[in-house]
Amino acid sequence: MNANAIITELETKRAEGWTLPRLKELAVSLLHESNPRFHWTGIYELFPDNTLRLGPFLGAPTDHVFIGMGQGVCGTAVAERRNINVPDVTQVENYLACSTETRSELVVLIRSGERIHGQIDIDSHEPAAFDETAEREVQKVAEFLAPLYEAWTKGRGA
Ligand code: SME
Repeated sequence: MNANAIITELETKRAEGWTLPRLKELAVSLLHESNPRFHWTGIYELFPDNTLRLGPFLGAPTDHVFIGMGQGVCGTAVAERRNINVPDVTQVENYLACSTETRSELVVLIRSGERIHGQIDIDSHEPAAFDETAEREVQKVAEFLAPLYEAWTKGRGA
């Protein structure tokens, strides 16, 4: 399933009344199944204390449930306000290993303009697993989720 098909599926569920908590789980699951190189797929959410907290994920359990700004690839993406595609995680000095099998990692921010809601984080056991197409596909899903996060956090007064 490509990103457009994933988004169509998510739109269908949203039209049926699903809200963010279920939609983000479904997004993770559809993304995870969309590419055999995606061995760990999850969402980290940025909380007002500037800490990333692990949301829905598929793959091996990780110790990194909370990640501070600037820590690891995930925290660096937030600190530098950019997506990060790491072809070889052994070259990253402050890398936080989720699994010893991970060779490459992709972090795509979920953002509404300047406001960062979180990120989609994907690990692969294969080196340089994320080409431009993969990155673009993940970006599309992040762009679908961003307005839902925006509405959700506003609705909760956060
Ligand atoms: N590798 C990430 C931590 C998250 S786990 O991969 C799931 C990092 O360096 O921030």
